[in-house]
Parts: sequence; C-alpha cells; structure tokens
Amino acid sequence: MRAVRVCASAAETEAAGEDFAALLRPGDVVLLSGPLGAGKTTFVKGVARALGVAERVTSPTFTIVRPHQCHNDRGIEVLHHADVYRVASIDEVYDLGLGELVEESAVAIIEWGELASAAFGEDVVRVRFTDEGEGRRLELEADRDDVARWA
Ligand SMILES: Nc1ncnc2c1ncn2[C@@H]1O[C@H](COP(=O)(O)OP(=O)(O)OP(=O)(O)O)[C@@H](O)[C@H]1O
Ligand SMILES: [Mg+2]
Repeated sequence: MRAVRVCASAAETEAAGEDFAALLRPGDVVLLSGPLGAGKTTFVKGVARALGVAERVTSPTFTIVRPHQCHNDRGIEVLHHADVYRVASIDEVYDLGLGELVEESAVAIIEWGELASAAFGEDVVRVRFTDEGEGRRLELEADRDDVARWA
C-alpha cells in the first residue's frame, strides 16, 4: 500500500515522522530515500520523539549507525538510525548486521536506504522524499493495511 503526505515545513516533516512511528512494529526495517537535504533526518527526529528517545538525534553520517534507547510500551526498545551515504559497498551494509539487530525488539531506519536495498528482503517499509523547494513530498510504501492512516 502507498500513501502520500505533503509537508510544507520542517515541523511538518517531523510531525509526519511522529505519525509514521505509530505504524512501526518491532523488527521493521525502514529505507528512506531522496536527495541531499530532502528531510530524512528531520523525519527520523519525529520518529524518535514518538518512540520515546530522550537523546538528541543527529545525522549519523560518520558513525554510519547509531542505536537510540527507546521508552515506549510498543515493544520497540531500540531505534537503530543509519546513514549509508558514505558506505563504499553493499558488503559494508551487510556487515552492519541491521537485519539481525532488529530481531531483538528493535527497528532500523536507514537514510539513503535505496543504496542498501539489496541487503534486505522485500519486506521493508519505504519512504521516498522529494524536494519541492518550499516543501517536501513524502511517499510511504509498506505491505500493511494501516498505511492510509498516515496520509
Ligand atoms: N517539509 C520541509 N519544508 C522545508 N524545509 C524542510 C522540510 N523538511 C525538512 N526541511 C529542512 O531541510 C533541511 C535538510 O533536512 P535534513 O537534514 O532532514 O535532510 P536529509 O535528507 O537528512 O539530508 P542528508 O541527505 O544530508 O542526510 C533542514 O534545514 C530541514 O529543516
Ligand atoms: Mg540526513
């Protein structure tokens, strides 16, 4: 299923992330794609807030993946936030072991996720960001029934 949301400001992108978190289940891998500055990290900030992450979420560009402890009653204990923009090969993505990490009551959300797509199965959630100058268009694609609730 697909759903589209247009965000007129960074605050709206963050709110879209907050609402998106309601769809997440432990074990989910989320691939975020879109050009530089499209709002991916902003969206993750919203997801983190909704999942009860206390620390500040910044771009994990140089560490590639950063685990954030969550505080919620959803069974999601860790949010693994990755940015694979600087990853040189798909083998590096396999080495991160994100697919296994999420099996333990966690979710992974990956910026530039389209570059990592081959490391995961078909069962991923995708959010595509388009920079529309003044705002951003977000398209969510996931194989689940409640996607429309987010739009
Ligand atoms: N809907 C929006 N309308 C206008 N500006 C936005 C919107 N959403 C986010 N921004 C702004 O766009 C800028 C880039 O956002 P952000 O860092 O989240 O992008 P990114 O996709 O993570 O970039 P990168 O590819 O470098 O990781 C920030 O200044 C942010 O506040
Ligand atoms: Mg970013």
